[in-house]
Formats: sequence, C-alpha cells, structure tokens
Amino acid sequence: MGVEISEAFRLPEGSLVKIRGWVASKSEIGGLIFITLRDGTGYIQAAGKRGVVEEESFQRLKEVAKETSVEVEGTIRIDRRAPKGREVAIKSLKIIASADKWPITKSAVKSTSFLYDYRHLSIRGRKASSVIKIRWGVIKAAIEFFSQRGYCLISPPTIVQSACEGGATLFELDYFGQKAYLSQSAQFYEEAAICALGKVFVIQPAFRAEKSKTPKHLTEFWMIEAEKAFMDQEENMRLQEDLITYICKRVVEDHKEELAVLGREFKPPDTSFPRVTYDEVLKFASERNLSFKWGEDIPTAVEALLSKTQSKPFFITDYPLSARSFYHMTKPDNENITLSADLIAPEGHGEIATGGQRIHDYQTLLKRIESQEMPKENFRWYLELRRYGMPPHSGFGVGVERLTKWIAGLRHIRAASLFPRTPTRVNP
Ligand code: 4AD
Ligand code: MG
Repeated sequence: MGVEISEAFRLPEGSLVKIRGWVASKSEIGGLIFITLRDGTGYIQAAGKRGVVEEESFQRLKEVAKETSVEVEGTIRIDRRAPKGREVAIKSLKIIASADKWPITKSAVKSTSFLYDYRHLSIRGRKASSVIKIRWGVIKAAIEFFSQRGYCLISPPTIVQSACEGGATLFELDYFGQKAYLSQSAQFYEEAAICALGKVFVIQPAFRAEKSKTPKHLTEFWMIEAEKAFMDQEENMRLQEDLITYICKRVVEDHKEELAVLGREFKPPDTSFPRVTYDEVLKFASERNLSFKWGEDIPTAVEALLSKTQSKPFFITDYPLSARSFYHMTKPDNENITLSADLIAPEGHGEIATGGQRIHDYQTLLKRIESQEMPKENFRWYLELRRYGMPPHSGFGVGVERLTKWIAGLRHIRAASLFPRTPTRVNP
C-alpha cells in the first residue's frame, strides 16, 4: 500500500508499505544499511539487510546518493533504537530520480550566506523546512481566527500609486509610462472595502525598499492586515491581543515537532498585553544613556533593550504625530499624539505589528495632506472616501515573517522566508 510517512507511524507492526520520498541520509553499520527517508510529512528510518532485501535492490541501496528520490517497499517494524520507535524493514528499493553529489556539506558551508546562495536546495534541511511549516501555521491560524469572527478576506492590488507608508521605502516602477509603486501595505484599500463589507482582512506581500541590513528587515515580506468600521483604537488593540494569542496557541498545538527540531521552547502568551506610553519609553531610554528627541521614531536599540526586559508582547502607545504616517487620527485632547500603537515581541525580537485609528473626517484629512505637501492627486480617491459616510475606523498590520521569527526563536528574519529578498539578495 502506498503511504505517506506520517501515516506509516500510525499503521500496525508488520504492515506492508510502499513509501516514496527522498534519501535524507545514509549510513552503514555491520552489514546493515540505514537510510532516512523524507517525504514532507515526516522522516522515517528504513533498514536493509543483505538476504532480506532483493539482491538488485541491495546493490541500489548500497549506491544510492543523498537526495535521490526513491520508492521503498517493506514492512513496519517496532524498534526502540529507531527514531520515534519504528522503522521500515526494506524488501525492495526503486530509484525514481537520481541525485548528483550533494553540494551542501559541512566543509563547503563556510558562511550562512552560502546556505542562502543554495536556498533552492537548503530548504530541504530539517530546520529550514520546519520554519516554513511554522510560518504556514501562523497564516492558517490567522485565517481561522478571522473566519470565526466573520471577517471577509480581500485581495487588493500590489501595483499602486498611493504610497501608504511614505516615499522613503517605495519601490518605483514604470507602468507603461506612468509612475507606479509596489505596495507597502494594503491599508488604504481595506479602508475603502470596510464601507462595503464592514470588517476585512488581507494576507499578501508588502514591499519596502529598506536599504538597512538588519536581522528584522526584508524588502519583500507578507503582512496580515485587518480593518474594521466603527472600531476605535482600544478595540483595535484588543483585537490584536486576541489574534496574536490565538496564533501562538494554535502554532504550539500543531507544530510541536517543528518547534522541537528548532530547539525552541515557546510558551504562548495569555491575553492582556502590558502597555507603555511613548513618553515612558523616552524616560526608559534617557535613564540608560540612550536618549532620543521627543517626536522621533524610537531607535531600534531602545526598542530591542526594552523588548529584552519582557517575557510577553506589549504595546507602545501614544506615538507623536511626527513619528507616524499622515493618516493617523490624533487624541481628542492633544493634536500632537496619535491614537496608534506598536506591538513589540519580547526577548529582543521587537516590533511585530503597528495599528491605529485613521482620520475619518474629510476636512481634517485634507488639511493633513496639504500640511505635509503630499501629491494630492494620488490620494484623491482615499480622501473622497471621507465624503461618503466614512465612520470612525481602525486597523493594523502584522508582519508574518517577524511573527514567525519570534515564535520559532530565529536569529534572522530571512530564515522565515522561503526565498528571502534583502537589499543584497534577489536570487535564487
Ligand atoms: O509598521 P508598518 O509599516 O505598518 C503599516 O504598514 C500599516 N499600514 C499597517 C496597517 O495598519 N494596516 O508595517 C506593519 C508590520 C510591521 O509591524 C512589521 O511587523 C512588518 O509589517 N514589517 C516588516 N517586516 C519585514 N521586513 C520589513 N521591511 C518590514 N516592514 C514592516
Ligand atoms: Mg510600524
């Protein structure tokens, strides 16, 4: 019977199985040949003994190279010494597609960069593929969460003309003679869509021409965004707490094995994330000789230090308007402070989400666009939404790879991306 490896672990001892997969490793001990088979659903040991294995198959088994794809036929045997307590006693082995000498060897890997030059092959590794599965767990949980709450998934364009997060990080492209950009965030389109659908979410790529080479920046990443009509910033933060705790809990339930492969002991946080104000962060920084000016963005070093002191995610609230994009609504009693917050992951991982309440009033938004000398034409439609019953509303965006980096305990965000895009890498 043709079975997947995960299934082979549930079958009774003695079952005759046919497994198709790749040879992950091979060893020979006292006339016995062991191969570890891998098929995407798991890993299983298969053992071949001369005399038990058909003679032609035994020759093939002796010669089979790592990463050859094969079909192994044999019986399930319980054996304490085998990983997870069972193995396949090989009867026959067919080669499906042969493999050249594997280039990723201990002596060849002199830098991490080598592994990313060979990412098309190195993703087959146990750790690399475990991270990709955990990332899928993050996205799957987000879809579950928003479906349970009646949100509608929308898919806005990623070729746009209205820049959401400022000109500094835009990838420009020539759109048949017109200037266009790769989308930094789907937020503006979500704002249009909530007046049709009430509450929406998006899971798609976002692009930032960030030249900075840091362990948390990609130039192409995925974002989970949500926007809801009639939602204020307080409710917005509670929604983020609920989403993040839900995702963490689901990933731990579904991906125990992958987390173990990474040696990550991850405890999902419970809700009610602590909150600190921007002013409190300013004080924290100046007490540690890391002061910055009121109104500036919080420096990465300060954010990282603060994040290291925490064991669960926390919000930084009350950002000055000067450190935020033009669309942010300010507090009723202070026009210099926005109704917005960043969600910071603990253990030094840093920002994983930003959210806030948007300006819904036409005149206020018009004045803001004018005062920041922005190209009005590109924001015409965004402004016009405010003339047709735009209620107070809020939303947020979570970086998928940033969240994966924290949950999986990765040192660098590139490991959370299948084929990472950074300022120095667009290939493979
Ligand atoms: O903080 P950002 O720039 O916020 C927005 O784009 C809002 N318009 C979202 C919204 O309200 N709908 O980006 C949101 C999140 C960040 O918190 C971070 O997790 C991730 O996207 N992010 C990046 N991840 C990887 N590499 C980068 N260069 C990133 N830039 C932002
Ligand atoms: Mg942000």
